[in-house]
Amino acid sequence: MRALVYHGPGRKAWEEVPMPTLQADTDAVVRVDAVTICGTDLHILKGDVPAVSDGRILGHEAVGMVEHVGSAVKNVRVGDRVLVSCITACGACRFCREGRYGQCLGGGGWILGHKIDGTQAEYVRVPFADTSTYLAPANVADEDLLMLADILPTGYEVGVLNGRVRPGDVVAVVGAGPIGLSAIMGARLYSPSHVVAIDKAGSRLEAAKQFGADVTVNNTVQDPATVIAELTGGLGADVTIEAVGIPATFELAAALVRPGGHVANIGVHGKAATLHLEDLWIRDVTITTGLVDTFSTPTLLKLLSGRQIDAGRFVTHHFALNDFIDAYDVFARAGETGALKVVLS
Ligand SMILES: NC(=O)c1ccc[n+]([C@@H]2O[C@H](COP(=O)([O-])OP(=O)(O)OC[C@H]3O[C@@H](n4cnc5c(N)ncnc54)[C@H](O)[C@@H]3O)[C@@H](O)[C@H]2O)c1
Ligand SMILES: [Zn+2]
Ligand SMILES: [Zn+2]
Repeated sequence: MRALVYHGPGRKAWEEVPMPTLQADTDAVVRVDAVTICGTDLHILKGDVPAVSDGRILGHEAVGMVEHVGSAVKNVRVGDRVLVSCITACGACRFCREGRYGQCLGGGGWILGHKIDGTQAEYVRVPFADTSTYLAPANVADEDLLMLADILPTGYEVGVLNGRVRPGDVVAVVGAGPIGLSAIMGARLYSPSHVVAIDKAGSRLEAAKQFGADVTVNNTVQDPATVIAELTGGLGADVTIEAVGIPATFELAAALVRPGGHVANIGVHGKAATLHLEDLWIRDVTITTGLVDTFSTPTLLKLLSGRQIDAGRFVTHHFALNDFIDAYDVFARAGETGALKVVLS
């Protein structure tokens, strides 16, 4: 079969590799029908994720058809259409038993396209298939379902739920890439009074409006603090969500929150950011961090099949699997191409 293989920083190839096989009786092998590329894959290609070694098949998001199952797999059968989640869960360890699957101690967590071969291939082996795949609802298209593999649970769990968004809140989302847009979509479920999207790219702010932002701020030309102050009588946002992953945007999210408010960090940070405790200690602020757990996937599946969220809105480009290199190029140049999520099928 063919797969997108990482060969060290800056090097990747769509090449012939051996077919995956069952290695444990809890595994499934899934034929990949739809797959996408994540910003994290671009981080890997820059060499920012050293755990990914030469020869690794990338990708941690897919929808496909179950081709083989191990003898201990109970929930999915050969021929089932499933979502392959970015988080694998053993289902039995201390963290899995509290729904904290991202922190799985039993061999799961974020492993696909990281510690084991991933989904950017014609077939993928999925460990702990019972607790790491979800049956596809009949009325949902593959590419809509694919958005539930990573971005939608990430924005919802690590942004909206950790940030405790409540009706009437002013929610400021810093960064309007796929993750920030997912947080905007998730925040709307709670009827906020205003969602403010902050980004330095005009194209991303246009997208934010489509996803339900009431106010957009280009922070290279306008001070977000002034805009938030006007909306909140000078208090600050009830919830700020950081969806970029650099020190400046974390510090901005911490500066924009009101006393008693929540700062939910989603961004993956490679550098130390300054925590201004000299300002924050007196403000009763809660700051959360998190790796997505995907415990919300069943909820999001219901919202998707009930047409309460429009996941297909993320999909800006389509490619055939054989055009993986072109798809990476379009996704990596999102500023020029307007790419949010690219789907290969
Ligand atoms: N915590 C998790 O479990 C988890 C899961 C998936 C992704 N992530 C992380 O979430 C972050 C966002 O992911 P994404 O795919 O949306 O990324 P992205 O790069 O597509 O989007 C980031 C956005 O931030 C904007 N931006 C950059 N610098 C800015 C600045 N100084 N001020 C304002 N806006 C700025 C960019 O214009 C862009 O629109 C990344 O760090 C990613 O690694 C975290
Ligand atoms: Zn991802
Ligand atoms: Zn576990």
